[in-house]
Amino acid sequence: MRVNRAKLNELIAAKLHKAGLSKEHADGVADVLVHADVRGIHSHGAMRVEYYAERIAKGGINTEPEFKFEKTGPCTAVFDGDNGVGHVAAKQAMDEAIKMAESSGIAAVGVRRIGHSGALSYFVRQAAKAGMIGISVCQSDPMVVPFGGSEPYYGTNPIAFAAPSQDDRIITLDMATTVQAWGKILHARSRHESIPESWAVDREGHPTTDPFKVNALLPIAGPKGYGLMMMVDVLSGILLGLPFGNKVSSMYHDLTEYRNLGQFHLVINPAFFTDPGEFKQRISQTMDELNRIKPAPGIAQVLFPGQNSDHIQAEYEKNGIEIVDEIYEYLVSDIVHKNQYDNKDPFAK
Ligand code: NAI
Repeated sequence: MRVNRAKLNELIAAKLHKAGLSKEHADGVADVLVHADVRGIHSHGAMRVEYYAERIAKGGINTEPEFKFEKTGPCTAVFDGDNGVGHVAAKQAMDEAIKMAESSGIAAVGVRRIGHSGALSYFVRQAAKAGMIGISVCQSDPMVVPFGGSEPYYGTNPIAFAAPSQDDRIITLDMATTVQAWGKILHARSRHESIPESWAVDREGHPTTDPFKVNALLPIAGPKGYGLMMMVDVLSGILLGLPFGNKVSSMYHDLTEYRNLGQFHLVINPAFFTDPGEFKQRISQTMDELNRIKPAPGIAQVLFPGQNSDHIQAEYEKNGIEIVDEIYEYLVSDIVHKNQYDNKDPFAK
């Protein structure tokens, strides 16, 4: 069904407030989740609310965190999220990074001890809206084999990048470093469909087309994606003194425990490298040039990264956001959660 953006925001915020978050934090999380839904990234939108509500209710998210921002050098800082909701901590840390980059040209902010923060495009677009380049990476729970391995070590460790143009368009690359998200395997299971060989491996490390035999996901582009995953884990885990690799806490393992996750923001102020107006003009130019590249057979137009989501957003803003009926019914119900996520093995059949 279709739901108006403001209404969806209100429903999500109300549910998370009921689950135990402060009004301010519930509003902050709702904003990030609705950003994902309105851009067609439904895997990180309203569908996550019930899981968060259960985790909040069970104590696995600090509902009264004390955020601490510590400047550690001319252009570096550490933001401690005290295991509150990751969305709000990551947003505030990006606000601080943007402020720092205004005067220092570049800012690197490590975000320590947070819960899951959702779709990273939200944070990098904050920087782009302030006229800067934003880069953000974060660790996630282990479910991916390192290249050549047969057991999971890394998470789907996403990378996001945004840059502003001279109009209101923003280049928005926002990608997991796995070929496919875990949700796509679950989707194939629910439909008893096979999956392409390139997505995942079984317990012996053989590529599998049977979604029920999947033991771990595969990185994008073999050793190259594996290397990127490692880079993300170094920046958002090892560098920040947090658990790393297969010691990163699992999304569903124990909902009473804090997750202690890490994220890393980098903001670059174009004014310290070139004329900022010219920079934006050249970004617009490259977007236009890409759109004019002769498309391959069967493709309507070459898009710049994020333009697919821009198209979805334009349609959803006009006609309402497409939301699964079951999720809407949960949001409008009195139920906080149905106790269905705790200790759920992501690889359970
Ligand atoms: P995806 O595969 O849907 O898109 C990846 C990128 O490709 C996007 O930048 C998208 O705009 C671009 N793209 C897609 N189609 C295109 C086209 N036709 N032309 C040009 N560009 C195109 O994204 P993925 O990898 O499934 O990630 C989904 C979300 O999951 C992201 O928001 C990511 O941040 C989030 N995520 C969050 C995690 C966390 O722990 N917080 C963990 C893993 C992912």
